[in-house]
Amino acid sequence: MIVLAIETSCDETSVALLKRVRGKTVRFELLSHKILSQIDIHKEYGGVFPALAKREHSRTITQLIAEALHEADLLVERTHEAPLSFNQKKKLEHLLSHEEDMKKALYVLFEGIQKPKIDAITVTSGPGLEPALWVGINCAQALGYMWNLPVYPINHMEGHIMASLLSKKEDHYEIPAIEYPAVALLISGGHTELVRITKERNYNVIGQTRDDAAGECFDKSARMLGFPYPGGPEISKQATRARSEHTTSPETMKLPRPMIHSQDLDFSFSGLKTAVLTKIKYEVDNKGEMTDQFKMLLSLEIENAITDVLLSKVKHAAFIVGAKTIIVGGGVSANNHIRSQMKELTQTENLHLYIPDKTLSTDNALMIGAAGLLHIAHEVAPKTKLVARGSWKVDEKY
Ligand code: KG4
Ligand code: ZN
Repeated sequence: MIVLAIETSCDETSVALLKRVRGKTVRFELLSHKILSQIDIHKEYGGVFPALAKREHSRTITQLIAEALHEADLLVERTHEAPLSFNQKKKLEHLLSHEEDMKKALYVLFEGIQKPKIDAITVTSGPGLEPALWVGINCAQALGYMWNLPVYPINHMEGHIMASLLSKKEDHYEIPAIEYPAVALLISGGHTELVRITKERNYNVIGQTRDDAAGECFDKSARMLGFPYPGGPEISKQATRARSEHTTSPETMKLPRPMIHSQDLDFSFSGLKTAVLTKIKYEVDNKGEMTDQFKMLLSLEIENAITDVLLSKVKHAAFIVGAKTIIVGGGVSANNHIRSQMKELTQTENLHLYIPDKTLSTDNALMIGAAGLLHIAHEVAPKTKLVARGSWKVDEKY
């Protein structure tokens, strides 16, 4: 069984080919994995610009699919020309009516190569930026129609959970059997959620942000400090430097830890962002500018404040759920300080910790393929008509 996975929910266009191998748990070989980041394009806008993201996905995805198939040895060129039939064109015109660039490239692909030996397509269908999600969905539906393959809509957050769980063996990946109940902390640019998992694929959102996501707080704070998008990695770099120099932020830079003592499992990061702005304004008004030292120490305090809140909520959630396992996933889980603090916490509390390999923390199609293989193993039915669901929760039906 070979699955083609597609991810276009935000600013990464990604395609993967996974081959299921025998085993009780879901195991697969990764035949190819392509990730094309749009960061350089969005940088000048200081954040992801949805219309541009859509255009870039649409412009690049077909080439990425062809490259992945080629790398996996699944691309066989046609020896004779095989123009699309009237009916095929009619159906594709309908499926790709909003995707001019992609339509042209897909026509060339369909006419130029034979149906590859793949068995299913899995595609991120939400949550995310709807115009961006539609590109992946329309592409998947066109491929599914032309190659007569089932298409599985995948929740991006379930994908992040898979990325955290996956263990890499010598020549394959495995979704391991874990101890339940588990608590997943999903932290990305658009989401901050706590999910209770009582058995495989049984999710229940038990906490979420009331305003900004953790990644958004990193990014917006970084922007105020004059760092480029995405700001999370830059704040982390500054904070790491401060720690290596054994410097601490002065009391005057102290930021709030919003909702850290609230009894529920919700988060709020917009107040923290406003507090960062107040500190910056005060500094500029009094000193005329922000020094590198100021930026470094404020970065340290931002990272500490966000980490403190995340840690405290995970601890609280683990207690309420009676968790045996903690899963941390999403782009922000690439943060070194958060990683080491989570390790410390789970060691003291005697909990298992699953955190993604750094290369799989941010958006990628491998995790969407892994979730797809899990759906297939659970005999989830494919869908004939997919839609983009911008705010699809991981515990909601598609
Ligand atoms: O999961 P992801 O790639 O995309 C979304 O689904 O949103 O997450 C991107 C987020 C951005 O906000 C980025 O700043 C943050 O992950 N991020 C980090 C780090 N690396 C990426 N935040 C803090 N420290 C990092 N090292
Ligand atoms: Zn993501």
